[in-house]
Amino acid sequence: MSESFITTPIYYINAQPHIGHAYTTMLADAIARSRRLMGEDVFFLTGTDEHGQKVERAAQRAGLETAVFADRVSGAFRQMCLDLSISNDDFIRTTESRHYTAAKEIWTRVQKAGDIYKGEYEGWYCTVDEIFVPEAQLVDGMCPTCGGTVERLKEESYYFRLSKYQQPLLNWYRDHPDFVQPAFRLNEVRAFVEAGLQDLSISRTSFQWGIPVPGDPRHVMYVWFDALTNYLTALGFPSGSAAAEERIARYWPTVTHFIGKEIVRQHALYWPAFLMSAGLTPPRRIVAHGFWLMGGAKMSKSLGNVARYQDYLQVFGLDALRYFALREMPLGQDANFSDEGVLTRFNADLANDIGNLVSRATTMVHRYRGGEIPDAPQDKRQALDLELDAAIGVAIDAVKANFAACQVSLALQDTWTLIRHVNKYIVEREPWTLAKDHTNADVLNQTLYRSADTLRVIAALVEPVMPDAAGRIRRMLGIGAEPWTALKAGTLQPGTRLGAVEPLFPRIEKTVEELRGMTTANDPNPTTQPSALPAQAPTPASAPSGDMRISIDDFMKVELRVAKVLEAEAVPKSKKLIKLKVDAGSEPRTIVAGIAEAYQPEQLVGRTIVIVANLKPARLMGIESNGMVLAASPEGGLPTLIAVDESLPAGARVR
Ligand code: MSP
Repeated sequence: MSESFITTPIYYINAQPHIGHAYTTMLADAIARSRRLMGEDVFFLTGTDEHGQKVERAAQRAGLETAVFADRVSGAFRQMCLDLSISNDDFIRTTESRHYTAAKEIWTRVQKAGDIYKGEYEGWYCTVDEIFVPEAQLVDGMCPTCGGTVERLKEESYYFRLSKYQQPLLNWYRDHPDFVQPAFRLNEVRAFVEAGLQDLSISRTSFQWGIPVPGDPRHVMYVWFDALTNYLTALGFPSGSAAAEERIARYWPTVTHFIGKEIVRQHALYWPAFLMSAGLTPPRRIVAHGFWLMGGAKMSKSLGNVARYQDYLQVFGLDALRYFALREMPLGQDANFSDEGVLTRFNADLANDIGNLVSRATTMVHRYRGGEIPDAPQDKRQALDLELDAAIGVAIDAVKANFAACQVSLALQDTWTLIRHVNKYIVEREPWTLAKDHTNADVLNQTLYRSADTLRVIAALVEPVMPDAAGRIRRMLGIGAEPWTALKAGTLQPGTRLGAVEPLFPRIEKTVEELRGMTTANDPNPTTQPSALPAQAPTPASAPSGDMRISIDDFMKVELRVAKVLEAEAVPKSKKLIKLKVDAGSEPRTIVAGIAEAYQPEQLVGRTIVIVANLKPARLMGIESNGMVLAASPEGGLPTLIAVDESLPAGARVR
């Protein structure tokens, strides 16, 4: 079994988690899940970076003991992992004693290598980024990374002989061309190293909230020296036991650090240099993603333009948030976070593409084969079936390759190509027409089987990104989870009994304007505190007038939906009424319709009709009716049901 050690940055606890932190964590989680599906032994680590001046000051502002403050905010990051279904194996805090032991050990080893000396630091420091900024790099006197103010420091400091590692680092980059992904980020670091390296200040004396330097407790370690070693702490470094030693040997050589692009230098330059000095191997890979932008700037607490992940969980749900974030941002590039973007992808990719597929593929098996997967022999496949099976194979290979390359957005595109293929296959096959003639039974069986089998593969392929949706699809298909190692077309068992059909992603019929006040990304003024965002005032009702025309808003109040008739029976003692059980995209509902003079109940089962879905319940002949079917009647004639294309899924909105 091969191993995989996957890490996120450990997050500063000076502020609450937002979409930016959520993203890296979800990205690393999707990769961890994909590797487990490939049969790998994964160790997935995340946590919080709790030392440094920034945290000390944030605690003072909050009027709390630093340790109490740290517990509180670290707890919020731990909660984020629970909220986002993150499958981490450990959550590390740099204030834990196991970490003090590890960081001190690295310091001692580096010191023994002769790479630490005492000096005096005089220069600029950015507390937001916890970095020393050379005078020449200031932009109008401000930090070049965050644009914030820098402070002048003059204090005794220990230095790390970074300059000594210029050539070893360049050699490492030369010998490991895939060390940093995307490759252009490695070129940037290489250019920086080639320009010459200055020794690095690695201790501070002007505050206390840090790990004391071994042998000189007036100094605390520079927060990055402390923080980077967390990746070893979690493996049990320094190996006090055979078990820890085995763990380090097993996982360390496989590590991939997922980070944002602003901390590449710390990971691809400082970290390998510290490790080389301590006699350890640099990490295997660093994957640096781009920034989420909001209002044109990097989403960041210091700018105040942050989106709360909790709002999006509430409005769109976990799977949709994970899907949006991982689909929208191609690896290494920046992307915009907006309500409009989330809403559009929700309704197009989720409600429409995958939602329709799930509804069609499962409803057809219920309707035409009593909820049981029919047998569909391989040798009876026709051209369309063979093409679909080939597309499944192509998608599986492409998704695996893209996950292996950490290109989750591309893997989702591959999956959606398959979803669109099978949706088209169903439309081309017209199972609703095939079902009308029993001589088509074989082709119908192939159609039902292949659609459901493709859906099984799609559930497996979306699992790393949407674990919950994958489980729900499987429940509808009546099957269990399966690893990627044996994933291929045609393994769904004929005779499998399907579970109940439920809508996977019901369309969200809200406008971006209506979302205002529920979410935080549509704030037109990025410096406004999101939580203070007011809900939009309701539009005053227009004054009554003689004009009987209605506005589009009035029309939209009527919720017209496509529904499938599941059952129909005459209402005893009534000449006109029929009691229907219909599927309108959610729980089956009862509607009593005045159409008995025009239709026999048995003529209605399986029909696709249109209903008013948001009518208040009414009792007719003692039966509660929840909705109204739409029918047209010529003057004095019998009603005819409004017919719509059979391929429309139950629940589709009519407007
Ligand atoms: N504590 C350091 C990391 C130490 S790792 C040994 C740190 N913490 S942080 O809280 O500032 O988190 C930075 C990370 O959060 C980024 O590298 C990125 O992973 C994520 N993001 C924070 N804001 C982000 C965006 N606007 N967009 C994308 N990711 C963002 O740096």
